[in-house]
Amino acid sequence: MNDTPQPLTALAGIRREFPGTDKWVYFETSARGLVPAGARDAVMRYLDDRILEGGAPATMLDRLESVRAKFAQMIGAAADEVAIVKNVSEGINAIVTSLKWQRGDNAVLCADIEHPNSIYALYNMRDRHGVDVRTVPPTADFATPIETIAKTIDANTRMVIASTVTYTTGARTDLDALARLCRERDIVLLVDGAQSVGALELDMRKTPIDAMTVGASKYLCGPYGFGFLYVRRERAERMQPGSLARYGIDLGDAHEGEKGGAQYRLMRGARRFDLGSYNYAGANALEVSLDLIAGVGVPTIEQHVLSLARAFTAGLLELKLPVMSGKVDRHFSHIVLVGKPAPGAADEAQFQAIYDHLAANRVKLSIRHGRLRFAFHFYNTLEEVEKVLSLLRGKQPI
Ligand SMILES: Cc1ncc(COP(=O)(O)O)c(C=O)c1O
Repeated sequence: MNDTPQPLTALAGIRREFPGTDKWVYFETSARGLVPAGARDAVMRYLDDRILEGGAPATMLDRLESVRAKFAQMIGAAADEVAIVKNVSEGINAIVTSLKWQRGDNAVLCADIEHPNSIYALYNMRDRHGVDVRTVPPTADFATPIETIAKTIDANTRMVIASTVTYTTGARTDLDALARLCRERDIVLLVDGAQSVGALELDMRKTPIDAMTVGASKYLCGPYGFGFLYVRRERAERMQPGSLARYGIDLGDAHEGEKGGAQYRLMRGARRFDLGSYNYAGANALEVSLDLIAGVGVPTIEQHVLSLARAFTAGLLELKLPVMSGKVDRHFSHIVLVGKPAPGAADEAQFQAIYDHLAANRVKLSIRHGRLRFAFHFYNTLEEVEKVLSLLRGKQPI
């Protein structure tokens, strides 16, 4: 008997956990995900504990460690390969500043499609340490250009930064190929997972990337101010963090207020990147959505969101709308972009009018760089895709 859950069965009931889905056709997870109602109860329990008891391990450090372990499991990593950070920028900067850069070293990224947070982290290294920041153009379908990166790296390349899926064009990066390329040359591959972790599979046992960071607020359906930084153990153990605090130091079970001597031992693996006190309220909220995602399973979520994106893309093409995303299969993702690479004023006005029409009919989506961005997660349905297509055809309001 095949006991693999089928998507519809596995997803049944998920929308009930997200009351926001009753109110909106919510295609805006690329900006921020919906939060499940259970997160409110979890945060209330945490606050009650703080109000009445001052705070017990069960709602504080134990909860934090539970969330770390659950996230690690989601990405096929060990718990000590996961540090707790505040957001993607903090994760990116933790890795970028931990390299001992020398003048003349270089780092490579595709600035056109990467988030400004990654770009400025490298410019900072340029201005502080003389790092040569090499930016490469995207592929013709606006994805991370692995072949061009291969031609651009040389003996002085220390780091490559890429996103799992780009926030501007919705293109999925061929991370297996990029990871192989970097690994063969001992180049640190730092990945921004903001636009897919929680919706698309990423298994560190299969894809040998060195470091990946993600915030909780998008596809993990959690709070702002909470994120994760994965660092492969072998790589982390060769790293001296650019910022160091008590939680990054190994003093066994000693209380956090204890001091060691002037010589210290760093925590194992990625834990050396943990800094001070944690966002415990956030950990309590996030555990609820991590459990919901794990309950369905990321492979099932991936299958579901890709099938929604395929159906939506086909409908948009029938309407002769300019779909920028999904032109090459291996770059296809759950994010659909409608717009032009360099929109003129007339294009921007047309897309703004479509945006306004959808927003007036209770559809949430984003506009980025004059393009419409539709993003799917496990609480979205094919019926919603059809409703939005029918709105675009100028039919019945939802
Ligand atoms: C690709 C990408 N990276 C990073 C971020 C955000 O970074 P941070 O979590 O530091 O605010 C976003 C979106 O807000 C994003 O789309």
